Amino acid sequence: MEATTGNRILVTGALGQIGTELVEALRARFGIDAVVASDVRDMPDHPVVIGGHYRHLSVIDADAFDAVIVEEGIGLVYHLAALLSVSAEKFPELAERVNVGGLITVLEAARKHSLRVYTPSSIAVFGPDSPNHAPQVTPLNPTTVYGRTKVTGERLARNYWNQYGIDVRGIRYPGLISYKAPAGGGTTDYAVDIFHEALANGHYDCFVRADTRLPMMYMDDAIRATISLMDAPAESLGESRVGYNIAGISFTAAELADAVAARVPDFTCDFKPDVRQEYADSWPDSIDDELARQDWGWRAEYDLDALCDAMIAGLQLSSI
Ligand code: NAD
Ligand code: SER
Repeated sequence: MEATTGNRILVTGALGQIGTELVEALRARFGIDAVVASDVRDMPDHPVVIGGHYRHLSVIDADAFDAVIVEEGIGLVYHLAALLSVSAEKFPELAERVNVGGLITVLEAARKHSLRVYTPSSIAVFGPDSPNHAPQVTPLNPTTVYGRTKVTGERLARNYWNQYGIDVRGIRYPGLISYKAPAGGGTTDYAVDIFHEALANGHYDCFVRADTRLPMMYMDDAIRATISLMDAPAESLGESRVGYNIAGISFTAAELADAVAARVPDFTCDFKPDVRQEYADSWPDSIDDELARQDWGWRAEYDLDALCDAMIAGLQLSSI
């Protein structure tokens, strides 16, 4: 094994919804020079690009990926590059190449260079046959292209841990709600878009039914969970290390619209379900995260009120 001696951190997909905030948190904790952000997009004005070291890098290009690992002295990869559910349904072959092929690039580099890896999974691993309150361990039969790539990703990650001893960890994120970067082509995007539209136009046409209940989480909780999982002693993590369930808040689209209306005078919301309703209907209502609580002390902090207050304050501040 050609081990690198590096201890810097590489973030793939760093210009996305999670990367924008994870890079900021990692730079604040470990120092600007310790973190190399990368993405396939070129966005010279993006805060991640302005705020520190940035490399243009596609996770599909294994040779380029290997070169960056060696040149930058990388020891840990936060692998966020992916196509989310709506994009994956539109571009299934690309989703397979990025979500599965890209993960293989990262895991192979981890094997060659003794890297630690964080690779997120999703509530989309569950399918219509999962219980509404999704347990950690249950048959995973997703009906979306995206969900299938995530199930394959968990299987691959577990194999690299079992066969090669690679320290791979992951979380099945719920739908994430944040204001610093736009949501990137997912089904749960309505829970982000509603805040932008409420403040800009006082109205939102929601693309799922009013009674659609999904597991969601405020981004600060998700970033804290990610870093806590990577800080946890390896011996405290079991077979679920590649896809821990974590719960935040579960609410219906109508409950969210009511909470927004309580804060934005005269806000109105219409419900006009489209094809994304099918994806939402295939996912559970809520998540059992008992194992994450036991193994590494996970606990969410934001409820619906705290989330709405933070979103509105954050969007109002960033528009000044
Ligand atoms: P996002 O779409 O906002 O960002 C993904 C980034 O990956 C984009 O910046 C995109 O340019 C980049 N990318 C796409 N193809 C690439 C390639 N070939 N090489 C390098 N970069 C590439 O997604 P996100 O919300 O930040 O999600 C990050 C991870 O978290 C994904 O694995 C996603 O499945 C998972 N996740 C997200 C959510 C959520 O609600 N945001 C929920 C569950 C799981
Ligand atoms: N938020 C993601 C999506 O809707 C779930 O992984 O695609």
